[in-house]
Amino acid sequence: MSSIIALEGVSKSYAGVPAVKSVDLQVTRGERLAIIGPNGAGKSTLFGTIAGEHRPTAGKVWFDGNDVTRARSSKRAMAGMSRTFQVARLMPSMTVRENVFMAALTGQHRGVRFWDMFSSHREVEKRVDVALADSNLEDLAGVSAAALAQGARKTLEMAMAIVQDPKILLLDEPTAGMGFEDARSATAQLKRLLDARPDMTIILTAHDMEVIHSLAERVVLMANGEVVLEGSPAEVASHETTKALYLGHGGAS
Ligand SMILES: Nc1ncnc2c1ncn2[C@@H]1O[C@H](COP(=O)(O)OP(=O)(O)OP(=O)(O)O)[C@@H](O)[C@H]1O
Ligand SMILES: [Mg+2]
Repeated sequence: MSSIIALEGVSKSYAGVPAVKSVDLQVTRGERLAIIGPNGAGKSTLFGTIAGEHRPTAGKVWFDGNDVTRARSSKRAMAGMSRTFQVARLMPSMTVRENVFMAALTGQHRGVRFWDMFSSHREVEKRVDVALADSNLEDLAGVSAAALAQGARKTLEMAMAIVQDPKILLLDEPTAGMGFEDARSATAQLKRLLDARPDMTIILTAHDMEVIHSLAERVVLMANGEVVLEGSPAEVASHETTKALYLGHGGAS
C-alpha cells in the first residue's frame, strides 16, 4: 500500500450520535492535506481516529501499511506519528532548549536500544540545535517555557514535534487562539520548517484560509461528519458548496 494513511469506512459516534460517518480517505507519502469544514463538521473527531485518541465505531485505520485501528496513540507515536497537542505538554519550569531536548529523546526511543542512546547523545544535541535554529528559537533557548508568549509557545510545540523527525505530523488548528499577526508569523514559520522537510507528511485541520493556502496541497471539506468535497485549496475555496457551508459561520474568511 503506497498510502501512509488510509481510512476505510471510518465512523465515530458519541453515545450513539454520529460525528463521523463512513469516511474513506487516502493520504500519500509527503502529501500536505488540510481537513476543513464548519464548526462541528467532525474534523477533530476524524483527526482523533487517525492519531489514536478516538477509536472508530466502525471502519479501519491504516498507518504505513499496518492496521492501527485498535492501536493506542502512544504506539502510533512510536511508529512515527507526531501530533502537536501530544508533545505540547511543555515542561513550564524547563527552558526552551530543554523542552526540545526532551522531545528529541522521546523520538529517539523509536527502535533504539538503551545503550545506543548514550552513544548518540551528541547526535541528539545536534538535532536540537537544528530544530532551534530552523524555528528561530535560538535567542529564546535559555528562557523558561512558562515565560513564553502564545506565538512562541506554539513555535516551541512545533519544534518539539519536528525534532522527532516523524513520518507524519498531525496539526489540529495550528494557529487557533492567535491574533492576526501571531497567526501570520506562525504560519510563515511553519511553512519554512516544512519546506525544509519535503518528505514529511502533514495532515492539518484549519479554519484559517491563510494556513490552508500556504501549507496545504489538497483540501478535504467535511460537513455533518462526511467528506463533501476535495480538491486543491483554490478549487475548494472557490466552490459553491464551500461558500454555502461557510455562509453565516464566518469560518473560512
Ligand atoms: N467528546 C465528545 N462527546 C460528545 N460529542 C462530541 C464530542 N466531541 C465532539 N462531539 C460532537 O461531534 C460533532 C463533531 O465535533 P468535532 O469536534 O469533531 O467537530 P470539528 O469539525 O472539529 O469542529 P470545530 O471546528 O468546532 O473544531 C459535534 O456535533 C460535536 O458536538
Ligand atoms: Mg475541531
